[in-house]
Amino acid sequence: MENQLQILQAEALQEMQQAQTVAALNELKVKYLGKKGSLTAVLRGMGALSPEERPRIGALVNEVRAKLEALLEERAGALKAAELQERLEKETIDITLAGRASFNGHVHPLMLTLDRIKAVFMRMGFAVAEGPEVEEDSYNFEALNLPPDHPARDMQDTFYITPELLLRTHTSPVQARVMQASEPNSPVRIIAPGKVYRCDYDATHSPMFHQVEGLVIDKEINFADLKGTLELFIREIFGANTGVRFRPSFFPFTEPSAEVDISCVICQGKGCRVCKQTGWLEILGSGMVHPRVLELSGYDPNKVQGFAFGMGVERIAMLLYRIDDLRLFYENDVRFLRQF
Ligand code: DAH
Repeated sequence: MENQLQILQAEALQEMQQAQTVAALNELKVKYLGKKGSLTAVLRGMGALSPEERPRIGALVNEVRAKLEALLEERAGALKAAELQERLEKETIDITLAGRASFNGHVHPLMLTLDRIKAVFMRMGFAVAEGPEVEEDSYNFEALNLPPDHPARDMQDTFYITPELLLRTHTSPVQARVMQASEPNSPVRIIAPGKVYRCDYDATHSPMFHQVEGLVIDKEINFADLKGTLELFIREIFGANTGVRFRPSFFPFTEPSAEVDISCVICQGKGCRVCKQTGWLEILGSGMVHPRVLELSGYDPNKVQGFAFGMGVERIAMLLYRIDDLRLFYENDVRFLRQF
């Protein structure tokens, strides 16, 4: 019996040393120490021993069991550590791998242009005013010296909502709103950027576009103030060498009125396709605020004067970034937007 135990122990120890996985070790544990295991079988066979032998063999069996258990535990620990190590090595992150490209958002070119326009006027002390896009006919037309039957109303293709409500066709109604909200005859120096709407659509017209209105009112404001302000603005936006030309024009809400041209940004005035060989590009409308417009909003034209101007943001953005189709601004093609 002793011999049999020796052999069993030697065999078990060897197999346990050789086991390569935790699973294999578990199998060995069952094979030797389990309920139907070989060592358990030896214990069961002890009934056949003499009472003198029994304690000795019993002690021996316990010794063998302790040895096997100790080795099992040691090997299991080592194998588990090795398996963990192997798994961690497989899982490690390859920090030399190139990262995935991420796409940053961009400020829309129209908003970039608007930000630049605003920044120039804010440096000159202008405040920013806003008005509603759904506007009353009385502000969009009447307060600006266009009575209901005025022929100039035909100049604008208006989206009417009701006979009295419309989508504003320009930012000029903000002039009237600002004056009416102010103490009569108090000075005004504002720009009013925003969306405007006209029923029109082709490569150079969109039913929704953006304008920036300007209004300055104070004592002794004259045409030289208008010219100086707009020349400074234009040279800040388009460069110090830009030519500026004031051309007589007509708007019902200004008298006198002028349209402002800049020397062509493409050919510098030599004449090209963009400026239709004239060397000049029209960029805004302006004039001295009509006395009637001051009166209609509670100001006294004998006490204060003013000048006003209005420009299209799309037009300025197209010239600034050399964009030849207005529709690009609204299609939101990332290949276009990503360039700004
Ligand atoms: N409201 C005009 C338009 O939409 C632009 C304009 C012209 C605004 C002259 C003004 C101005 O303030 O003085 O065509």
